Amino acid sequence: MSTVSLIQLNKNFKEISAVSDFDMFIEDKEFVVLVGPSGCGKSTTLRMIAGLEDITSGTVKIDDRIINNVHPKDRDIAMVFQNYALYPHMNVFKNISFGLRARKYPKNEIELKTRKAAEILDLTELLERLPGELSGGQKQRVAMGRAIVREPKLFLFDEPLSNLDAKLRHKMRAEMKKLHQKVQTTTIYVTHDQIEAMTLADRIVIMRSGVIEQIGTPYEVYHEPANHFVAGFIGTPTMNFIDCELEKTQPGLHCQLSGGSSFQLDHFQLNEEIGPSREMYIGIRPEDLIHVTSKRENLISIDAQLEVVEPLGAETLLICKGDFGEITGKSNQARGLQWGESIEFEINPDRIHFFDKKTRKRLRRII
Ligand SMILES: Nc1ncnc2c1ncn2[C@@H]1O[C@H](COP(=O)(O)OP(=O)(O)OP(=O)(O)O)[C@@H](O)[C@H]1O
Ligand SMILES: [Mg+2]
Repeated sequence: MSTVSLIQLNKNFKEISAVSDFDMFIEDKEFVVLVGPSGCGKSTTLRMIAGLEDITSGTVKIDDRIINNVHPKDRDIAMVFQNYALYPHMNVFKNISFGLRARKYPKNEIELKTRKAAEILDLTELLERLPGELSGGQKQRVAMGRAIVREPKLFLFDEPLSNLDAKLRHKMRAEMKKLHQKVQTTTIYVTHDQIEAMTLADRIVIMRSGVIEQIGTPYEVYHEPANHFVAGFIGTPTMNFIDCELEKTQPGLHCQLSGGSSFQLDHFQLNEEIGPSREMYIGIRPEDLIHVTSKRENLISIDAQLEVVEPLGAETLLICKGDFGEITGKSNQARGLQWGESIEFEINPDRIHFFDKKTRKRLRRII
């Protein structure tokens, strides 16, 4: 069993604050993904845990043991990087078993552990091959094999799939998940790809400029984003944001969009008191803006002009321009739609988010 405590972790590079006050407790067997834009401090956080970077202040613990001053090789951590440099002159078996041989494990134990790792990673048939004779995904699996034979307390992955093409990435993502289900080792995984984060993680940590913006399950960060940044970062295509003014009415709320359109939300109450005409962003995900062809009563809707149709096969995206700016919605029947046509989108009121324009925080809803 291994839990990880990251307590008020800070890293400064001279005057640059790369990571500030990173605070998190990671459960045994948990798969945690750090995600965020380039330069937000993901790798630095991971490297501090691995011992490859000095900690400016704060504490790293594995179980109850503080490891701040423990040498990287004595931390019982295995790390897999984006550039997984295999030894080109060694076959797969030798690459996987390299760490065990260096540590002078008995021969039969090396044999056993390496074959077991190869089996987990579906590499048994390839043990005699040289890296030059493998595909990108197979090489990446060998790199993972090298990490798992050591049976470490903790796995750290830094963008391990970045060098692979889209299809292989998708396949390897599923492999990662299977691997975790089999070996159940506590894992911290870094990526800048929010889909990878959503599909792999038990919990996601969303970072920006060295600061944690939100920690939550994939469901939470998607449906209950803490703020405007998280809401825009998670989800493809990205959430639509429109400037609006909110006014409290009896009952509910009146929402006045910039540009003139407005609608009434009768069954809607926010947990924060809003003054007269409070300035907000309204946030609606494309899948919650559905193109409607016939007018129904009590429909909460907005109109916009069609600019681009993007058929994705299973569904179609409609990129439209309204007097409030550009929005992306969805349609189930996109045949025959014309450029410039007026499109009405139904809004699901249960999926609307409001973000305070000043604090950028999401206002939580009571009703
Ligand atoms: N050795 C260093 N010296 C000075 N600044 C550094 C050093 N390493 C990282 N930084 C800075 O610290 C910040 C965080 O870098 P880090 O590599 O952790 O980002 P990241 O989230 O992993 O980004 P990416 O997605 O591009 O890999 C960046 O502003 C970076 O320029
Ligand atoms: Mg990085």
